[in-house]
Amino acid sequence: MRFMSLVSDFAMRGARRRIPGRRNGGLSFALRTGLAFVSLGVAAALTACSGSGWDQAESSIPDPAVVAQGKQIFRFDTFGDESQWTDTLRMHEVIRTAVDPTTALSVGLKVDAEALPSAVVAGIQNGSVDLKSPDTTVALLKLDAVIGLKGTVETINGKDTLTRVGVTCALCHSTVDNSFAAGIGKRLDGWPNRDLDPGAIIALSPAISVAQKAVYNSWGPGKYDPRFNQDGRNGPQVIPPAYGLNGVHRITSTGDGDDVAYWNRYVGVTQMGGHGSFSDRRTGVSVTNGTDDLITAKLPALQAYQLTLAAPPPAAGSFDPVAAGRGKLVFNGPGTCATCHSGTEFTDANARLHPPGDVVSEPEPNGAPSWASRSATKQYRTAPLQGVWQHAPYFHNGTAPTLEAVVRTYNTRKSLGLTETQIADLAEYLKSL
Ligand code: HEC
Ligand code: HEC
Repeated sequence: MRFMSLVSDFAMRGARRRIPGRRNGGLSFALRTGLAFVSLGVAAALTACSGSGWDQAESSIPDPAVVAQGKQIFRFDTFGDESQWTDTLRMHEVIRTAVDPTTALSVGLKVDAEALPSAVVAGIQNGSVDLKSPDTTVALLKLDAVIGLKGTVETINGKDTLTRVGVTCALCHSTVDNSFAAGIGKRLDGWPNRDLDPGAIIALSPAISVAQKAVYNSWGPGKYDPRFNQDGRNGPQVIPPAYGLNGVHRITSTGDGDDVAYWNRYVGVTQMGGHGSFSDRRTGVSVTNGTDDLITAKLPALQAYQLTLAAPPPAAGSFDPVAAGRGKLVFNGPGTCATCHSGTEFTDANARLHPPGDVVSEPEPNGAPSWASRSATKQYRTAPLQGVWQHAPYFHNGTAPTLEAVVRTYNTRKSLGLTETQIADLAEYLKSL
């Protein structure tokens, strides 16, 4: 069975399978949970005068058409960043000659099983689709099946050839449920891809220096330094979830923006290389790519979609409810956790940020400079805790491998004097959020 011919048959039939709505997305979920969302108009107004009118904004229900548009942007829009990934970094050459699907999966790239026609699924299952050939990667890109990568495939001398490639938000902030095979399954938008090794991927570029390659290769899976190419300093961050942020008005671990659109513009322009502008006089970052703006008009819909992404609830049986009940009392009492992790989002972010002296995650590992010192606020935001079970390791720099390690770090650094039972109970409570 020839994979490429399967793909072209499929393309000719024009029968791209529709991607069903996610359980956490959409209007019905909004109504069911009673959560409030930002509508397009209000989000646009917020972008224009960020910092005011939050409460009013959140009482409106999002327009499902706008949310659907935002989902497409989140998954498939590159904002024209092919200029960076193709013209500058020449990743299309690397991918089409050296990245077979097995290699792609090994650096944490994920495949959307729902984008695969059934004949391809069968071919993967019976081994007739060659997972050791870069041509298969090109075929998967043609199907829009590699999460977060957007390829343009053209026929050159009768062969499907990758001519352009760019990246989307989904690269870092989506994974799959592994329902088909490891790394292949249904999309989980908003879940951080902690298997992805963005540094190792960028280091494959033939266009970067040996010194830069060494930095990129030092990051490892699940981490990315979104300031390295601006300030030249090296201190990779854990890729955070992009879910559970409705109602949180300090965005990023240092609270640099008032809404997610702040980060979307920052990362879209300065990291992804999308066409448009970002500037923030607090950090001195000022970047313009291209002469057109392919970002600004998309920010309201993108944000509306992101705010529908709720934190995933813990699986039944994944924690001990009785111990968690006791742990809640520790959280609110002797642990003093609730003095900062307050309210339904478990954060005081909308009221205040915290100086580095308040956090237990500094100093940074490996002698890296304080992450806060490289940010706009020079402070940290109390991390929201809904869905925290899902995204180990913890803290901005990933220094705590488990929730129990988080609790032990607080116990030591803040001299809380918790007993072993209290520590275990508190960890169970965190698993239940
Ligand atoms: C190369 C990986 C990468 C890509 C691509 C990327 N991000 Fe991020 N994202 C990060 C990292 C790392 C952070 C942490 C930044 C920090 O806390 O200072 C982050 C932070 C965020 C946050 C803030 C989370 C919080 O808790 O406040 C949101 C929301 C987000 N990203 C959404 C997006 C969207 C939408 C896009 C596309 C426009 C995108 N990201 C593209 C790596 C990425
Ligand atoms: C002084 C305010 C403050 C107190 C008290 C506090 N935290 Fe935190 N917490 C923070 C801040 C700020 C962060 C983010 C630190 C970082 O990103 O490195 C954080 C991060 C966390 C994280 C990591 C979340 C993630 O997404 O990685 C967990 C879990 C957590 N805290 C649990 C607790 C528990 C349990 C207690 C009580 C024992 C506690 N916190 C007490 C402010 C506080």
